[in-house]
Amino acid sequence: MAESKLVIEGGHPLRGELTVQGAKNSVLPLLSAAVLCDGDIVLERCPALSDVYAASRILTHLGCRCRLTQGRMEIRNTGITCTEIPETMMHEMRSSITFLGPLLSRSGSCTLYLPGGCELGPRPIDMHLHALRQMGAEIHESHGMLQVQGRLRGAELHLPFPSVGATENIILAAVLARGQTRIHNAAREPEIRDLADFLNACGARVSGAGTDTVFVQGVDRLQGCTYRVMPDRIAAATYLAAAAATGGSVCVQDCCPGDLTAVTEVFRQMGCRVYSHENRIYLQSSLPLHAAPYIRTMPHPGFPTDAQALLMAAHCKARGSCMFEETIFDSRYRHADDLIRMGADIRLSGRAAVVHGVQRLSGTTVHATDLRGGAALLIAGLSAEGITELTELSHLDRGYENPEHVLRSLGAKIERIT
Ligand code: EPZ
Repeated sequence: MAESKLVIEGGHPLRGELTVQGAKNSVLPLLSAAVLCDGDIVLERCPALSDVYAASRILTHLGCRCRLTQGRMEIRNTGITCTEIPETMMHEMRSSITFLGPLLSRSGSCTLYLPGGCELGPRPIDMHLHALRQMGAEIHESHGMLQVQGRLRGAELHLPFPSVGATENIILAAVLARGQTRIHNAAREPEIRDLADFLNACGARVSGAGTDTVFVQGVDRLQGCTYRVMPDRIAAATYLAAAAATGGSVCVQDCCPGDLTAVTEVFRQMGCRVYSHENRIYLQSSLPLHAAPYIRTMPHPGFPTDAQALLMAAHCKARGSCMFEETIFDSRYRHADDLIRMGADIRLSGRAAVVHGVQRLSGTTVHATDLRGGAALLIAGLSAEGITELTELSHLDRGYENPEHVLRSLGAKIERIT
């Protein structure tokens, strides 16, 4: 896509309702899971994101046929005809490492490449590789290349940290492995539950997903099915944060309020009125917001690291000070520099960041550094005085489907200029 930018005129409270997109962090492992299934797989509410297109290109490279039209991803798997994922494809998207488990399970040997670091710091996969070795994989690493072979068998596994990707990779490796696999200290994110629900709909036997112990009984084969992807809880948090920061009132439809309780609690601490009912969250904001005293990112059900940048943006003009502690990633404050250029008062010290609320933010030209950092600058632009221009939109387009359309439907003054 030619270099484009978002031009935002701040100061307009967001009002109205939106239906949130399908979850990026669920549909990506579901696309990896398609490697394991015979026949046709249909994923409904599949968001049109660059990461989704990158994953579907990998599936096509492996021998599947993929087509995404109007939110419906159709995949036909008549057999895996290639067992190597080229380095360029692996580097397009960090989470492509979740193709390792299913590809090894399906083909018995495969070659991939280390996904490499990203804007959030190094993205090690030691936990993925250690678990797969315990399941019988022989993994040879050299110059960033992974040559893997072996017939996978069930194992008793203990994760040192509840890694989302490692939990997903292990489940994907275990569903067709011989015997039983138990994952202790598994990640409890809702996306793990969605993956297990999809796999079970294809004939797998996964239980305990969403708790810290996941159990998988290996089966012989999986048959493709039609499955509706869960709603994107971080996209929902993004639009709620934009409503909060602009003093608006927004209803997010078709979402799972239970997946966002740690985030909606912070909005309440900031003085917003937040109601949840069935699959809707309604937020009514009044300015100035009050700073929540403390936000510490934790594995689910703690405060999600992906919402840290969003709530930092919402705190820039809040009365008082908020202390952030980012415990999941090494460097996830890169959005702070441009927020400071807009007039925010943010002090960084390692994994801690303190935001002192200021009276106003001023629009200027800012650059997205990563996906959620870009969303934070978008939120700041909506609540700033004057015009903000946001560039490096490729980061934003990885995880948000038509954000300018969604925001314009809520009354924002925002244009994408190519
Ligand atoms: C997933 O990344 C998400 N990505 C991330 O969302 C999210 O921030 C993260 O989980 C935490 O919730 C997808 O689902 C595609 P982890 P993942 O393995 O699986 C370390 C976004 O904005 N670690 O739980 O990579 C790792 O370095 C993205 O949508 C190891 O040390 O997260 C990190 O510090 C960003 N060794 C921590 O654990 C390993 O083998 C959490 O990583 C694996 C992870």
